[in-house]
Amino acid sequence: MKVCIIGAGIIGRVHLATLKNGGYDIIAVCDIDLSRANKVIEEFSLQAKAYSDYKEMLLTERPDGVHICTPHYLHAEMIIFALNNDINVLCEKPLCIKTDDIDKILLAEQSSNAILGVCHQNRYNKENLFIKDYLSSKKVISAHGQMVWHRDKAYYAQGEWRGKWDTEGGGVLINQALHTLDLMQWLLGVPTSLSATIDNVHLKDAIEVEDVAFINMDDGRYTFFATTCAGADFPVQLTFKLDDGSIVQVTDGNVIKDGQVIFSSLTDLGFGKECYGSGHIALINDFYAHVKDGKKFFIDGKEASKVIKIILATYQSKGNKITL
Ligand SMILES: NC(=O)c1ccc[n+]([C@@H]2O[C@H](COP(=O)([O-])OP(=O)(O)OC[C@H]3O[C@@H](n4cnc5c(N)ncnc54)[C@H](O)[C@@H]3O)[C@@H](O)[C@H]2O)c1
Repeated sequence: MKVCIIGAGIIGRVHLATLKNGGYDIIAVCDIDLSRANKVIEEFSLQAKAYSDYKEMLLTERPDGVHICTPHYLHAEMIIFALNNDINVLCEKPLCIKTDDIDKILLAEQSSNAILGVCHQNRYNKENLFIKDYLSSKKVISAHGQMVWHRDKAYYAQGEWRGKWDTEGGGVLINQALHTLDLMQWLLGVPTSLSATIDNVHLKDAIEVEDVAFINMDDGRYTFFATTCAGADFPVQLTFKLDDGSIVQVTDGNVIKDGQVIFSSLTDLGFGKECYGSGHIALINDFYAHVKDGKKFFIDGKEASKVIKIILATYQSKGNKITL
C-alpha cells in the first residue's frame, strides 16, 4: 500500500509511526509548511517526497490512500478533493465542522470509486468492543457519559487554528470529547432530540470556543458532560443503568458491573499521547484491509456525521429542545 500524509503535526506523527511500523510504503508527506514535512521525513527515516500543496501531491503521487491530519476546517475540502479524484482517504476526526459540508462529503462519497474512513479509533478499544457486544442483548434504561480533562493556554498556543470557531469549529465537544460522545451514540443510537448548554468558564481570555458542555438527549435517555477545565485528566466514564437494576460502567480499560470487574483490557500501547489510546493501529489496518477488498469502511461519512450532527445541534441549542 502506497500512502501519503497531509499534515505533519502532532497526529500526523502518530499516523506516520503506525504506518511505518505496519510496513506501509509512505511515499510522500505534505505540510503547508514544507520544513515540517521535511522534518518528519528525516525523523522517521523515510524515502518520501515532501510537498506543500496537497492537490499537487495527490495528483502526482496517486497513492492507494491519503491520511488527512490537518486542522478541522480543512477536512471537508481535502476529503472531497481526494474522493473526486478516486483516492481512498482516511481523515482524522472531526469529519467536518459545518452542516453544509456533511451533504457535500456524502455526495462526493457516493460518486467516487474510492472509500472514506474517519479516525474514531476508540471504537477499536477492547473494552468498547466488549460493551458494544454486551449491551446488544441488554435493555439500557438510561446512560451517562463524561469526559473531564485539563487543557490550558499552552495547549491552545500550540496552533493558530485551535480555540477558534472558524478553524476548530468548537472546543471540548468537537475536539477532545468527540470520541466519547461518538461511543455513546454508537452504543445507544442517535437521539431524536436534545437540549444542551455550552460555556467558556476557564479560558475566556484565550479561546472563543466552549470548554464545558452538557447535553440531555431524548429527555434523559442519555446525558453527556464534558469539560477541559479540570486540574488534571480523569478517566473517561460511560455508565449504563440496565432494566434489571444493575449499573455497568466502562472506565480506564475496565468494564465494571455493580462494583465487580467483568472485563479488563490490558493497556495496549499506541503511538503518541496516552489519551489517543492504541486504536489507530487497529483502525488503520482495518481501513487498508477494506481498501484491498474494495469494500466500504464502517466508519464512513454517514457514520462519522452522526456525532457531528449531535455536536452541531448542541452548539445551536442554547438550552432549547432541538429535533435531530
Ligand atoms: N484521533 C485522535 O485521537 C486525535 C488526536 C489528536 C489530534 N487529532 C486530530 O488531528 C488533526 C490535527 O491535529 P494536530 O494536533 O496534529 O494539529 P497540528 O497543528 O499539530 O498539525 C496540523 C498540521 O497541519 C498542517 N497544515 C495546516 N494547513 C495545511 C494545509 N493547507 N496543507 C497541508 N498541511 C497543513 C500544519 O502546518 C500542521 O503541521 C485535528 O483534526 C485533530 O482533531 C485526532
